Amino acid sequence: MSICRFQAAVSCQQTGDSSLSLERDDAHEDSEISPPFWLLCELTYRCPLHCPFCYNPVDFARSQPELSTEQWKRVLSEARTLGAVQVGFSGGEPMLRDDLEELVAHAHRLGYYTNLITSGVGFTESRAQQLKDAGLDHIQLSFQDSTRELNDFLSHARTFELKQRVAALIKAHGWPMVMNCTLHRYNLPHIDKIIEMALALGAEYLELANTQYYGWAWVNRLHLLPTREQLEAAEQVVAQYRERVGSRCRLLFVVPDYYAERPKACMNGWGKVFLAIAPDGTALPCHAAASLPGLVFPNVRTHSIRQIWYESPAFNHFRGFAWMQEPCRSCAEKTRDYGGCRCQAFLLTGDAAATDPACVKSPHHNRILATVQMAALSPADCSSLRFRSDATSVVMTGE
Ligand code: FES
Repeated sequence: MSICRFQAAVSCQQTGDSSLSLERDDAHEDSEISPPFWLLCELTYRCPLHCPFCYNPVDFARSQPELSTEQWKRVLSEARTLGAVQVGFSGGEPMLRDDLEELVAHAHRLGYYTNLITSGVGFTESRAQQLKDAGLDHIQLSFQDSTRELNDFLSHARTFELKQRVAALIKAHGWPMVMNCTLHRYNLPHIDKIIEMALALGAEYLELANTQYYGWAWVNRLHLLPTREQLEAAEQVVAQYRERVGSRCRLLFVVPDYYAERPKACMNGWGKVFLAIAPDGTALPCHAAASLPGLVFPNVRTHSIRQIWYESPAFNHFRGFAWMQEPCRSCAEKTRDYGGCRCQAFLLTGDAAATDPACVKSPHHNRILATVQMAALSPADCSSLRFRSDATSVVMTGE
């Protein structure tokens, strides 16, 4: 994130337009609440892929109509005025929006550092050129595996060759080559081949992100969770490659919470830097927050970004430390981890204000251990996976 932060500042300065400067709107004097830094525009939940670890909500089929081009532009403008400097365009598959180039151009004019997070489907030569002309700064291309068989099986679509072509297009247009592969028990044994593939495609940055268990991944957790042995072996392989490739390609290996002893500071803290807007305009402090009961998340159709960020009860609910229970409340590490992930706490304990069970100090840590044990006993059988699709979403929403 630090590289991107720097690039965002440079991008702004290079415009030479004072209306696009990094000056924040400081009218809000509340020193306890910092402005949003990262804006994630989830442009659509539509997606040609069907990954069983997708972080989109399982009930996405119930989602209201998507925001219009003008509504997204207003979101971008208001968040920029408030202080946001990075914007991510994701989904679903954001390439399915035919106004993507217009939104990128608008964000670029405002001085954002612009990121596209894509599976590559729909990324043609002509759209690559249009996105380049629009000022797109950065693309993250996802892969499911280094083999065609598993890549295409997991996405339930023939995308392997297509992704290779998109990787070449990204290089040809001079974007940094940033690849992402979500890891789980089926592809962890191929981690060396995944890294080799990334190197062969000229990746400068490879994010090897172990699955985090929300959304569809939560549904499939017993079939996706790797064993500790798989993880340790993969970490060793990554360490060896780091030594070998040095700065030619930065390898990021994100350990799953289920094998960590301390929780991560999810989203850097609730309502601290991250603002996600769902396709229908619902504003969220993280992409999974809509599943939390008892919180009403505001919508950009009826509220300004300023009202949402500073004044909405939902964004203020888990800010600071007053909401915490023990052991978080008296823990010296609360200023670093903010009690961990609220969504994970809810999924595992039924109480979103509980200490994240990923923490060994949590009275519910045994639920993490039990899940890991149950997963170890579940056969590595891909046929048990539930793949993301409109039809499955409808069925599961009714369950
Ligand atoms: Fe929602 Fe962590 S994913 S707080």
